[in-house]
Amino acid sequence: MSPRRPDKGWTFAFVLCSVCVHMAATKLGSLRGIGYMTVTTDDLELSTKFYTEVLGGMQVKELSFSLHGDDHYYRYFQKEILEARTQGVDPQSLHVPDISDSGDYEVRGEFVVFGNGIIQLQTFSKRGNHSEVFRAHEPHTSPAIVPAPHFCFWVKDSANFNHYIHELEANAARLGMPNVRVNRPVPLASESDRATVPEEKLGVTFTDGDFAGVSFAYFKGPTGEQLELFQILNQSRYHVGEEWCKRRAVSPAFVSNYSDNSYKRNAGYSGQLYGLFQFGTRTADLATSVKFYTQVLGAQLIQKPIQAVNVRGDDAAYMLFHKEIWDALRWKTSRRDIGIADLWDSGNNRLDHRFNLFDNYVVETLQYTDGRDLSAPKFNPRWNHSSMAYSGDMSVSFLIDEASDFNSVVRDVEVSAKAKGFTDVLANRPVNVSSLGESVGLGQYSRPIASGPLKGLNYVFFKGWSGEHFGFVQFKDEAKAKLKAALLQYGAMSTAFPETNPWTSDGFDQFCSAYTDPIVG
Ligand SMILES: *[C@@H]1O[C@H](CO)[C@@H](O)[C@H](O)[C@H]1NC(C)=O
Ligand SMILES: *[C@@H]1O[C@H](CO)[C@@H](O)[C@H](O)[C@H]1NC(C)=O
Ligand SMILES: *[C@@H]1O[C@H](CO)[C@@H](O)[C@H](O)[C@H]1NC(C)=O
Ligand SMILES: *[C@@H]1O[C@H](CO)[C@@H](O)[C@H](O)[C@H]1NC(C)=O
Ligand SMILES: *[C@@H]1O[C@H](CO)[C@@H](O)[C@H](O)[C@H]1NC(C)=O
Repeated sequence: MSPRRPDKGWTFAFVLCSVCVHMAATKLGSLRGIGYMTVTTDDLELSTKFYTEVLGGMQVKELSFSLHGDDHYYRYFQKEILEARTQGVDPQSLHVPDISDSGDYEVRGEFVVFGNGIIQLQTFSKRGNHSEVFRAHEPHTSPAIVPAPHFCFWVKDSANFNHYIHELEANAARLGMPNVRVNRPVPLASESDRATVPEEKLGVTFTDGDFAGVSFAYFKGPTGEQLELFQILNQSRYHVGEEWCKRRAVSPAFVSNYSDNSYKRNAGYSGQLYGLFQFGTRTADLATSVKFYTQVLGAQLIQKPIQAVNVRGDDAAYMLFHKEIWDALRWKTSRRDIGIADLWDSGNNRLDHRFNLFDNYVVETLQYTDGRDLSAPKFNPRWNHSSMAYSGDMSVSFLIDEASDFNSVVRDVEVSAKAKGFTDVLANRPVNVSSLGESVGLGQYSRPIASGPLKGLNYVFFKGWSGEHFGFVQFKDEAKAKLKAALLQYGAMSTAFPETNPWTSDGFDQFCSAYTDPIVG
């Protein structure tokens, strides 16, 4: 990268400064992007292998943890515990493992670092016998069910997207995960017909329209979790990059001197990722959820043309639902009854989604409509459970700046949510309360972890407006030092530390200064 010329630097600083002023009004000051996304797995070792050896992430061994205790029990499961009390049943019948002081389960987890974000893997198992895992599986896996979550990985520009899919499947199978199979965008008469689809037809690539240059693919991870791949080229890369520059968000995708580390190289072709592109969540109403993520949490709504309006068509429909189509056949049930939206050319449903950008990637909110018109009723099948202990459950945790008072931020989010009409968006308390969101003293909103590998970490979980799982996390003291060391070791980008934020040097200068007017709306 060439040294910055003074005149260009000045222009760039000027442009950025007007962006700063523009953003200051909406961005939640204490938020440092998405801290991590969590996925619940019933095989922690296998999932760790997948995210590291197949996808090229780095396991942070210093943060491997196990937790139990009353405060964790309530923070994870307060809503379900209260429901069980109302129904007069044992919380275990609502798929709540007893991780309280008097229970016999614990939550164990691993952190895996990627280029611009972290994935936390968690499992619930018996204390003293880790092979006895608490298992809860939802057979209905359609990504159109509210509030189904998914994570999306960002494939490097230099990779061939279709070959990437081929290598991902091959690498996963080689490492003992033959169930990691990417959906095919074409009809198949039988499972064995997958092999007949030529490599150049494995992904869905948009060659015209608003998303021209974008390729995507849907697949399930080793524990059945919903995953996605995105590649963003040509004009879409420009539009997405423009939004990243406006936000001063980070991604290796926009830094020209970013080179692969040994973790990616060791994973081979399937390690060819920039990092993460999104946490996806199926919302019961698109506009309402966008309002929450932008107005309460301060996300930047990505503008046209990168707003997927009225997604339909045979290739997209097969790509989204192939696994569930097989389920419907096996169970001799209608597609609609198991939550498959009819997005086929001949069908009558539509999909719309929006990208809500934080400092490192987006929360994607998705809505399915029961009609071809946006004003038609919503197609909103729902799961009948909400426990985070389900395999494949996911949550997104926003990172709170270490200088902010964590409990005040959590309380302020509740107050702000309520003021904007989100009266049910309430944090689980770490104590036994008699109703969700019960008023407690400020000091009782959360408790930092006082010992063990996560010493210095603090967290809370909420249910979002559609029932999605999200939370906040803060790393202080030892946990902060371990996080920072891990990000630096991987060469990851984060706005959490000046040393990991390319905006504090001139890391993003070359890409973002290509815009004559980065502010468009
Ligand atoms: C641990 O759990 C596994 C699976 O339930 C069981 O097969 C094994 O015997 C248990 N080990 C001990 C030491 O109890
Ligand atoms: C990007 O543009 C090039 C040159 O026009 C074209 O060959 C290629 O197919 C485009 N890729 C996508 C994914 O649209
Ligand atoms: C939830 O329960 C209702 C009523 O029992 C049922 O009709 C529906 O299919 C269930 N939804 C799912 C996703 O299982
Ligand atoms: C929690 O509080 C309820 C009353 O709100 C009480 O009935 C229950 O015994 C308490 N549970 C524990 C474990 O203290
Ligand atoms: C890329 O360039 C920036 C700015 O010159 C520098 O701070 C950073 O260390 C470089 N990164 C790599 C991976 O070489």
